[in-house]
Amino acid sequence: MTLLDPVWTALLYLAAAVFFILALKGLNSPRTARQGNLLGAFGALLAVVTVFFSAKLDNVPWILGAIAVGTAVAAPVARRVQMTQMPQLVALFNGVGGGAAALVALLELGHAEESWVRLAVVFTLLVGAVSFAGSAITFAKLQELMTTRPIVFPGLPVLMAAVLIAALGAATAVVLTGSLALALILMVLGLAAGVLLVLPVGGADVPIVISLLNAFTGLAVAASGLVLGNVLLLVAGTLVGASGTILTRAMAAAMGRSVAGILFGAFRGGSTAGSTTASDRPVRSSSAEDVAVLLGYAQRVIIVPGYGLAVAQGQHTAAELAQALEARGIQVDFAIHPVAGRMPGHMNVLLAEANVPYESLKEMGEINSEFRTADVALVVGANDVVNPAAKTSSGSPIYGMPILEVADARQVVFLKRSMRPGFAGIENDLMFEPQTTLLFGDAKESLTKVLGAVKGL
Ligand code: TAP
Repeated sequence: MTLLDPVWTALLYLAAAVFFILALKGLNSPRTARQGNLLGAFGALLAVVTVFFSAKLDNVPWILGAIAVGTAVAAPVARRVQMTQMPQLVALFNGVGGGAAALVALLELGHAEESWVRLAVVFTLLVGAVSFAGSAITFAKLQELMTTRPIVFPGLPVLMAAVLIAALGAATAVVLTGSLALALILMVLGLAAGVLLVLPVGGADVPIVISLLNAFTGLAVAASGLVLGNVLLLVAGTLVGASGTILTRAMAAAMGRSVAGILFGAFRGGSTAGSTTASDRPVRSSSAEDVAVLLGYAQRVIIVPGYGLAVAQGQHTAAELAQALEARGIQVDFAIHPVAGRMPGHMNVLLAEANVPYESLKEMGEINSEFRTADVALVVGANDVVNPAAKTSSGSPIYGMPILEVADARQVVFLKRSMRPGFAGIENDLMFEPQTTLLFGDAKESLTKVLGAVKGL
């Protein structure tokens, strides 16, 4: 069925591309992000409908069936997902995109006569497979289906090098011969490379890798646009590849990492220091009433939110506590680490939801010098982002990551449920320091008790 002539198709593709660009522009700021998202979704819908009415399609019932199955799976998942599980969902969708591009390239190989088209096919196949397998491992790490710590073994760098050399050989052979069997081998090598690329990544680097794999998927989709001769795929893939690359570089810079360092982590052999088990060293724990006294008679309090605050959904109580302290004349700020939580901007979104005023949210660079003037640093469900091992322990998976300098505050109070470590799976020595107190329990429950006690002072 072909209803649209090529001119209309090209114009509608152009319109969809403009919607994608406007979507990216909207995603620049939290105020316009929702609108940006809608524009992007509309652009995608326009693209799908245009393809449907412009191409000569065979197997229409199969295509409609696949769209129905995809919608039936994705829509409820996306509706039901918790905010804290969003990165897993992004990893999953991203992986599926890379995998789809690889499969399309595999099917198109039979029609690829010229070598440059075959070159685009092998590129899509390899990068799409890396992105699919890498995203699957990232998903498993974020969902804690496997350890979040770096996985390394003695032969890993050699194995990675062997897989890459074999992939290069297979890719050259596919370009020269167009062999489907070799293309399948190339895809398997791509899957292996994706797994080996992400296994040695741990702790602080996982968010950067999600963004990197997103850029990979964009590149694979752009290359599949070349293979299929579809301009819109080329444009959309390039936009994803470029924005993913910019985000990856920005996140790596914020974390004191180099992208090459993360990419070639497998060659370095990753990082293995630290311990995953909860320590039995003694700590000082106290009651909500004691913490309330500490806070209520302070002059300056800095609250450090982390992933645990999001899990406990304690943001409204944290905001109320800040207000109650401010009503007592205490200066209260929230210190925001760029990778606190599980996605970029997680803490900003969480606290904005609780109407914490924008001026109270201070970025790491701004607040770090102020901890030394604070009487209490109240760390709510955060761990890795305040772990001094990032500065002192060169073998640690978070070594080199900038942290919030809570140890400079006169007193440090941690609200958490147990002595279990954070995402990076490493112990935090700050918990055993003399100026540190722990209040054990779910963050929301602890905050509620502390708030009640502060009001009763
Ligand atoms: P984490 O280091 O993961 O620590 C979270 C802490 O919250 C844990 O110590 C946990 O201890 C506690 N917790 C969990 N549920 C809780 C609850 N209901 N009530 C009270 N406490 C609770 O978090 P962070 O400091 O925010 O650091 C983020 C980590 O995630 C970094 O390693 C970062 O690289 C990684 N990461 C970040 C992103 C982005 S982009 N933000 C994406 C993926 C990964 P208990 O279990 O003892 O309660």
